[in-house]
Amino acid sequence: MSQRTAVQEIKARLNIVDVVRRYVELKRNGSRWVAPCPFHQETKPSFSVNEEEGFFYCFGCQASGDLFDFYGRINGLDFRETLEALAEEAGVALDKWQDRGGPHAPRQSPSEKQQMLRLHEIAAAHFAGNLASEAGRECRDYMQKRGISPEIAQAFGLGWSRRDWRALTDTLSRAGFAPETGVRAALLSRSERSGRVFDRFRGRFMFPIRSLSGHVVAFGGRIIADEDEAKYINSSDSPLYKKGEHLYGLSRARRAIAAGAPAMLTEGYMDVVTLHQFGYGGAVGVLGTALTPEQVKRLSGFTSRVELLFDGDRAGRKAALRSAEMFLARGLRCKVVLFPEKDDIDSLLRTQGKDCFERLRAQAPEGLDFCVQALQEMAPREAVEWSRAFLAKIEQPELISGCATALANGLGLSEAELREQAAAARQSAPARPSQGAPADRHARNCDRELMTFAVRYPQALPRLRELGARLFLTAPWSRELWDKMEQHPPDEAFRLLNEKEKAFWVRCRTGDAPPLNNEDGEFAAIKTMLSRFQLAGQQASVTAALRQGAGKDDFEADMEYLRALQETLEKTHGKQH
Ligand code: UTP
Ligand code: MN
Repeated sequence: MSQRTAVQEIKARLNIVDVVRRYVELKRNGSRWVAPCPFHQETKPSFSVNEEEGFFYCFGCQASGDLFDFYGRINGLDFRETLEALAEEAGVALDKWQDRGGPHAPRQSPSEKQQMLRLHEIAAAHFAGNLASEAGRECRDYMQKRGISPEIAQAFGLGWSRRDWRALTDTLSRAGFAPETGVRAALLSRSERSGRVFDRFRGRFMFPIRSLSGHVVAFGGRIIADEDEAKYINSSDSPLYKKGEHLYGLSRARRAIAAGAPAMLTEGYMDVVTLHQFGYGGAVGVLGTALTPEQVKRLSGFTSRVELLFDGDRAGRKAALRSAEMFLARGLRCKVVLFPEKDDIDSLLRTQGKDCFERLRAQAPEGLDFCVQALQEMAPREAVEWSRAFLAKIEQPELISGCATALANGLGLSEAELREQAAAARQSAPARPSQGAPADRHARNCDRELMTFAVRYPQALPRLRELGARLFLTAPWSRELWDKMEQHPPDEAFRLLNEKEKAFWVRCRTGDAPPLNNEDGEFAAIKTMLSRFQLAGQQASVTAALRQGAGKDDFEADMEYLRALQETLEKTHGKQH
């Protein structure tokens, strides 16, 4: 059965209310079911499930989606795993080969990607095997010195790359891989002089990096003695791995986070492993780069609250400020836990114990308060610039006000001026859909209303097409959504939507949206809006032509036309009210 049919079949067999009810206590409220939202902290029932439509929606945190979204999110599974779990539950058979190529599969030839995954799996087993073998004694000694338990090493699949030049090269070639494949996977190197292939990681403590679905896609390797080499080397980008997209430990942490463990973000491999060993299963780490927007996005798929763990030195505080800014701008909550100078999480937990760490966590300021404190220590000039840029980056305009007040109060600035400057910075920022000159506002409303109707009554798409609706859409988001709807039947289109589109879709059809029983009435309103819009456009171009004096000879005729237009506009306008 193809993936698409499987999804439909599963939805037909499983009722979203039955599934949701296993995780939250649903109460009936009219045609909806409501409960406190399982995806953010609250007691009010802002989470609602629409049984008929098969959607859920939270007014508090905007989480929304269908059965698959709910199940995946609450269990911390990716789409593939969700599909497998629900298929099993519903008794739907999946085609093991075909269904890999769904809309979520990367555009990579499957054989190349499969081969790469297999190669990484073999490499991980090779490194773990080394660690357990005689050759791994020095690394086991190092582990013991650092207090890493064999259990946690096993859970993270830690390993040892031997000091010989061809240990992995030989293992891979015995497994039938061409040397070139190992080079492409960034595990082997080719000598420029001799052309010979050799191991890239030698004499290092190996940390496998896993994708969200748990496959090893890259490695980091640390030296274990005082050696005159880089402390860590990391896999370079490969067909499986792109720097800045993954978080170390997330494949393990997301399950803990889904079960309620606090999400923690750190800077190092060792810190993640140690935190997990001490029972903080929600810890993840950035991988040798500064935090990236992709990583923030990835983490925010699993939690709306993150504790940022940083060194207390200058560099650490700077990194903390930058990271807090990214989380806050995205509308997430964060706390900033700073360690006393010279300590990192790893050394602190091991030498001073959990109590000391818990005290630090308890005293940790909220993200925005931390930013204000950090700014107070900066030159006023820098602090103002930071604030302005930060306010301009906030994604949801509703959140600007509170942040502006806090910053202005904390820094002794005029709130009004700060907001004005930030608004100017927002205006000049490139392509932000919620921004733009007031002249665009009319067009944006048109986009929104058209798409609201289209999503509410997908069966009416041909009627819209007849009106030439696509031509009225000016925003990229609405055109993209329109195209998806035109190219796919509704339930299939829904699966292809991104997070924002899904939220829009669900809001149009459920929650406070009026019942879906007035297609003709709503269509009439759309028609009126489009004709007004068209007339307004014509009027504008005639007025412009008149101003330029282009139609001097026909001045009277033009005036007549303009008056007629005006009249029609007033009529249609009047009809709507
Ligand atoms: P740390 O020096 O804090 O490393 O660098 P660590 O993992 O805590 O290791 P220990 O405690 O000294 O054993 C933080 C992170 O920066 C990256 C790694 O991801 C590391 O975990 N890093 C550091 C590199 O990629 N290359 C380096 O040379 C150093
Ligand atoms: Mn460390």
